[in-house]
This record gives sequence, C-alpha cells and structure tokens, in this order.
Amino acid sequence: MWFFRPSPPPINLGAELTVELHNHVLPGLDDGARSMEEAVQMIFFWAEMGYQKVITTPHIGATFRPSPHQIEETYSRLCQCLHEQEIPIFLTAAAEYLLEAELKADLTALRAFGPKRHLLIEFGFWVLPPRWQELTFALQSAGYTIVIAHPERYEFATRELLRRWYEQGFYLQLNLLSLVGYYGKAALQRAEYLLEKGWVHFVGSDMHSPSQIAPLRKALQHKTLRRRFSTFLNPSLL
Ligand SMILES: [Fe+2]
Repeated sequence: MWFFRPSPPPINLGAELTVELHNHVLPGLDDGARSMEEAVQMIFFWAEMGYQKVITTPHIGATFRPSPHQIEETYSRLCQCLHEQEIPIFLTAAAEYLLEAELKADLTALRAFGPKRHLLIEFGFWVLPPRWQELTFALQSAGYTIVIAHPERYEFATRELLRRWYEQGFYLQLNLLSLVGYYGKAALQRAEYLLEKGWVHFVGSDMHSPSQIAPLRKALQHKTLRRRFSTFLNPSLL
C-alpha cells in the first residue's frame, strides 16, 4: 500500500541561523567593502535571507590595524545608513584577529562577542605559528572563548589537527563559501569532513564584497548544511 508522505516545509536557512558572525562589511577598514554602497548591498542580502543580526569583524593584524575609534565611527555611519534605508537588521562591531604576539599587549581590550566572550581568531594560511598554544592559552586564561575562523581553509590543517582543536574546546567557524568550492578542492573536502564529524559550531560568510552574494546564496542550499542547521550555535549570539 502506498502512503502519501508530505515533504517537509522548505527551510529558510538565513532565518534559522539568525546571526551572521564573520564578515568584512565595515567599509574602508580592511580588504572588505570599499564603500558604504557596497556595505549596504551586502547587508541587504542578509536581511533578504532572513538574518536578524550581523556581527561585523574587520581584520586586525599584519596589514590591517583599524583603531577602536575608526571601527566605532565606521560602524555608526553604517548603522545610520541602514536606518535611513529602513533595512531591518541589528549590527554590532567585533573583529577578526590574526593570532600574533601583539594580542597579549592588552588582553582586556579585545573585541569579543556573545555571552561567552567569543573571540574570532585566524591564522596565516600556510604555517601554524610556533607559539599558537601559548597564545591561545593566554587568551583562554583571560576569559575568552576562542572561535577559529575557517579551519577548513588552512593548508596545514590535517584531520588530526582539526580533531585536536575541537577536543581542546575551540569553537570552529566554517565559511559557507568553502562548501561551493570557492577556495578550492582541499578546503571543500575539509569543510565536508568537519560537517560530517559534527565539529562545526558556527557558520559564517566571511563576505568581503558584493560579488560573493551569488555563491553565498548557492552555499545556503548545500544539502548537508541544511540537514545540520539545528546544530549550529549562531542563534545563541542573537
Ligand atoms: Fe575573515
């Protein structure tokens, strides 16, 4: 006998994730958005996808070192633009830090987010810094919860290292674009491996420019991602 089984209602993934937490939308501070117009275009995409909040994370480290004043000032101007254009989304200003010794200079002043004082940390893509354990320990001891940005993108990220990060209590943030092969095959394979293992705590866009809107739209349709949406912790940051 045949039974009619209604298909489940389609998931609006943006509305489920609610919070976007890794991007370079604050214009003119790093290699991200180049103008307010570009920034508004990027934010409009998240609003359209159903996100409610965007945590902005300009690069801090190596080539880019925006001051707290520059970040606050740009953030205020962008909020004003969104208000004028009636784009309904809540914006906050954090940062994406390169893991480097300079971070220890003032451990009280880092731009964390969420109730667990999450700190978004990235490494250089080719070599794991020799003092990474000492530095991450200093950050954890100062009360921060480390979120490793795009672990799937690092050339040195073996499966063993990914496991170690996960078991050590670091939170792992996957880039949505990795799932559509935007950064190449190795990053795609690591991204799928992390999803399969259930080691992904957060998903983020790492959007730098409006040209990435189309591939991001596609990434939000990724099958495994959509199956796993209820396991991501993005909504805990709302
Ligand atoms: Fe980034």
